[in-house]
Amino acid sequence: MMLQIGKTSRTAGAKDLLVILSDPSLLRNLDLARNDRQYLLEQLKEEKQVAVCDISGRLVMVHQVAKGDRSRQLELVRRAGNTMALKLQEAKREEAQVVSLQDDAALTLALVEGAALGAYTFNRHKTEKQPTALKKLSVVAPEVKAEALQELVDVCECVYTARDLVNEPASHLSAVQLGEAAQELGKAAGFSVKVLNKKQIEAEGMGGLLAVNRGSLDPPVLIIMEWKPKGAVNKQPVVLVGKGVTYDTGGLSLKPTPNSMDSMKCDMAGAAAMIGTIAAVAKRKLPVHVVALVPSTDNRPGGRAFAPGDVLKMHSGLTVENLNSDAEGRLILADALSYGERYGAETIITAATLTGAAARAIGTQGSVVMGTAPEERFAMLQEAAAETFERLAPMPFWEEYADELKSDIADLKNIGGALAGQITAGKFLARFTTRPYIHIDIAGTAFLDRRDHYRPKGGTGVGVRLLFQFLKRRAAAN
Ligand code: BES
Ligand code: MN
Ligand code: ZN
Repeated sequence: MMLQIGKTSRTAGAKDLLVILSDPSLLRNLDLARNDRQYLLEQLKEEKQVAVCDISGRLVMVHQVAKGDRSRQLELVRRAGNTMALKLQEAKREEAQVVSLQDDAALTLALVEGAALGAYTFNRHKTEKQPTALKKLSVVAPEVKAEALQELVDVCECVYTARDLVNEPASHLSAVQLGEAAQELGKAAGFSVKVLNKKQIEAEGMGGLLAVNRGSLDPPVLIIMEWKPKGAVNKQPVVLVGKGVTYDTGGLSLKPTPNSMDSMKCDMAGAAAMIGTIAAVAKRKLPVHVVALVPSTDNRPGGRAFAPGDVLKMHSGLTVENLNSDAEGRLILADALSYGERYGAETIITAATLTGAAARAIGTQGSVVMGTAPEERFAMLQEAAAETFERLAPMPFWEEYADELKSDIADLKNIGGALAGQITAGKFLARFTTRPYIHIDIAGTAFLDRRDHYRPKGGTGVGVRLLFQFLKRRAAAN
């Protein structure tokens, strides 16, 4: 559950305060003793990210907005909001008040966003529940519209949902259970959900998804979600496809223990991103037609597991020589991409924890992006990336990379050479769609092994804020 956030017009004297201002002289608007104000001013002069004054147990925390680059300015405010939320949690406060002493609504919202995203915890499996947690923020900010605040709350809730799905271990989240979770969310948020079972997947001829599933004790699913509002701006939908590998052992190409499997419950983070995104779009009733597809299974070794050397007949009709059962994500995504052909998407977007190479290339500070969509679509996505600070590093997508996927005996093989693995993986996927295509590899950003400001250790929910903002821009484009 996310904390409760709402607007109020009254300042409560006794509450802990999270203050945002552009000019320190505005501290005069707060009812503070002179020495307390002086103490805060000194900290702001030293450019402390968050100035803190403890007034006999009451915390007054102040962030002064930095000048300069807009994207970074917003991010620094989010980080300050996170710092404040952590201080509140440390002090075991359940409630506090945000006070804005400046008139840029987006900056005030960023402070709230940083606090909300930073306050996330995942303690479902702890028998001793945390005795207190931050539960409520009231926002005193005349410049912020109630609807804008509600949008922020809705999107943050969907980020929480995505994080919960990623953090939930495979012992508690099988492919079928992921389908059930999507169905519940669909009911709550108002989008439609259909889940294809193994029989239906067989009837569709999804040889990639079925091959990866062969070592599993549990059946696969294909989750089909749709938000189709009256008056949508687009004639053809935007189709989102998320990798839903609930656990990746590498299959018969077993990952080397120790450590490399520890976080592989995160291998459905692309699915979580797309489920969270369509939920946010539906909650906010964006006038844009969106379809989200999630192929899902775990990837395990076993007597029936698909083996290196096997040839698979894919949903599209292409044949693939499997030369590494750990390159499973592209096999299930390929089937979902070609299943997606029926929608005639204006843009089709994949999000996937697809390659270690993506993480090696740029680390955890951003995801890599590539594809065949027109420049304007990438530009719209980059605007959303700058706004949300879910940054995207474009990769080259030259034809020659695809040459590495030539197979001796089938139409293509599922691995390229030792270099640029994130790009050859993208090239593999691009063979399975004819639509304008964008691929986002979130292997570096989906799951962190230590906290980074408001991105917690574990699942980050990356993709939800980014794609919601992308679709919001698309909805506004006509
Ligand atoms: N799920 C992994 C990629 C991954 C690695 C995600 C680390 C998050 C963190 C993917 O299925 C995988 O195993 N990819 C292989 C591909 C290789 C066999 C071509 C990889 O990156 O090593
Ligand atoms: Mn793998
Ligand atoms: Zn994987």
